[in-house]
Amino acid sequence: MKRGLPRKENAMKETDMAYSEELVFRPLPQLVIEANVNPQEFATAQASAKADFLGYWEDAAQELDWFHKWDTVLDDSEAPRYHWFKGAQCNIVYNALDRHIETANKNKLALIWEGEAGDTKKYTYYELYREVNKLANAMRSLGLGKGDRVVLYMPLIPQTMMAMLACAKIGAVHCAVFAGFSAKALRQRITEVEAKLVVTADGFYRNGRIVNLKATVDEALVGGCDCVETVVVVNRAKLDVDMGEARDIWYDALVRQERSDAATEIMNSDDPLFILHTSGTTGEPKGIVHGHAGYMVGLHRSLDWVFDIKPTDIFWCTGDMGWITGHSYVVYGPLIAGTTTVMYEGHPLYPQADRMWDIVARYGVTVLYTAPTVIRMLMRYGNQYPRMHDLSTLRLLASVGEPISPDTWLWFYKYIGHSQCPILDTWWQTETGGCMITPFPVSVLKPGSVHRPMPGIEVDIVDEEGNRVEDGVAGNLVVTKPWPSMLLDIFGKPEMHEATYWPLGPGKYWAGDIATRDEDGLIWIHGRSDDVMNIAGHRIGNVELENAFLAHKAVADAAVIGIPDKIKGEVAKAFIVLQPEFAALDDHNEIIRMLKTHIRKEVGPVAVIRSVEFVEALPRTRSGKIVRRVLKAREAGLEVDLGAVVED
Ligand code: WT7
Repeated sequence: MKRGLPRKENAMKETDMAYSEELVFRPLPQLVIEANVNPQEFATAQASAKADFLGYWEDAAQELDWFHKWDTVLDDSEAPRYHWFKGAQCNIVYNALDRHIETANKNKLALIWEGEAGDTKKYTYYELYREVNKLANAMRSLGLGKGDRVVLYMPLIPQTMMAMLACAKIGAVHCAVFAGFSAKALRQRITEVEAKLVVTADGFYRNGRIVNLKATVDEALVGGCDCVETVVVVNRAKLDVDMGEARDIWYDALVRQERSDAATEIMNSDDPLFILHTSGTTGEPKGIVHGHAGYMVGLHRSLDWVFDIKPTDIFWCTGDMGWITGHSYVVYGPLIAGTTTVMYEGHPLYPQADRMWDIVARYGVTVLYTAPTVIRMLMRYGNQYPRMHDLSTLRLLASVGEPISPDTWLWFYKYIGHSQCPILDTWWQTETGGCMITPFPVSVLKPGSVHRPMPGIEVDIVDEEGNRVEDGVAGNLVVTKPWPSMLLDIFGKPEMHEATYWPLGPGKYWAGDIATRDEDGLIWIHGRSDDVMNIAGHRIGNVELENAFLAHKAVADAAVIGIPDKIKGEVAKAFIVLQPEFAALDDHNEIIRMLKTHIRKEVGPVAVIRSVEFVEALPRTRSGKIVRRVLKAREAGLEVDLGAVVED
């Protein structure tokens, strides 16, 4: 955009639907008046964070409860291994649950849950507290305690939240594995973290079908995984599952006799809270570790300031608890803020494309946080579905996971927010724990831009050597100051931590994203710079999929690239060199079916393979690295020689 061009302002008119880069949106005056952080306060916060970075974060930490406060706000003596709030003692569950029991929040709704079939459950803070305590006691009686790892292979049900909080309460470390991952992927994670306990459900409802989880857990635990002593099973779908072994116990039976009060473990600030795996450029997923202290300080700020939480809010983040969004914005963030969090088990299209709007209307959701892939899917079904419901309770909309294109932004703004609700396009990552670059409710918005870093967060856009690029030039997004909710480590691979995230040294956290800054200082994210795809907002490493293909006997060589998809943003395309005996077979469609089934088994349905192309050879560098950009060029219609050796 050129400086000085006239801009359209204020809420959108019908005629504005065609995207123009000149569109900017100002918040409604009422929102500015009522915002927890008005423009003046935002400017002050930004200035104070710049002038006194540590003092700024110390103030944020002061707003939470601690058993013992820190000696040092930030110890950077081992940078890039940063220790926030060193010397402090706390427990995130004390802030998310225990302290609310002493206040007017005690009888407020903490959780509204809705099953796909329409069944609902509501828990007040006090009820949730009691449930968590019972499970915490049960876990303790199973012999679990501080530092023990617990794998959660769970759907979106209340017990998932309870299991996370119960782990945190006793100092155990939860490691959620998304229910869309295969038995093999589950086994890999269980073994890596040496989980003593696995919590799962018999099954759950998804798009009118029941997904059997317990069977997958059984498959994962066959031969190996000796570390697992107990499997706790929530009876969600009334499935007739095999509970024959001494290892398995029903959740209800486990907690039935337990007391409803339990001591909250006193944790040191850096003690791990959870491990969550994310794909990277190597074949192995990385177990990102987050701790108690910094993580809760970061979340507290984003709920209070970005999501502008008020006592009357009903907050709905549609993220799954198998991903960071669910951890930070279904469970910990909303509960720390003392708000009511909504959780929906099922598919947004079940029984039809108005399910989300129906939920918003029935519970009076005020803040809705979802992903571009979901919006794109619902958009395709047309405006008649949101029109069926009264969405007037909504006051803020938010998006995360991938770039939101301006047309998707505008549909969301107009048909869901009725041109009244700002859209907060929040950029962050599993590794950052919580929001980093995002508008505030009072910001002047440009559709498609993630706006500015939050106060106390500093970012830059640099070339490969770390030099700042000019405005308007694409470069690598780096975070130039540590932040409280940053990852503590990569589980079991501390050497990878530095190599992956700090290739430019401690002062520049390497996010792996390409971005530009416009002349107004606003940031636009363009996608990943590395070999990681973003399929429906889920990170899937190209190499991880290639390795999965290579594990099949028909495959001699494999390369995977991401190709654009209207709904999912990106899907995978595989280039496969077949083993000669398979190449000689006539029915290549059958081989494709076989390979797709194989990937579902190896990785899980989360890895969407759109197409498989059989080729004679793959482009490689002299050192043998696959050159995916050559494959991408071929995909774009260019003539390329796949067998050629490409210079690095
Ligand atoms: C990657 C992180 C953060 C929770 C969900 C994903 C992409 C995230 C945005 C956004 C453009 C975004 C980035 C990032 N991403 N938010 N608002 N605009 N891209 O967490 O699985 O750790 O993935 O998602 O590429 O690096 P994740």
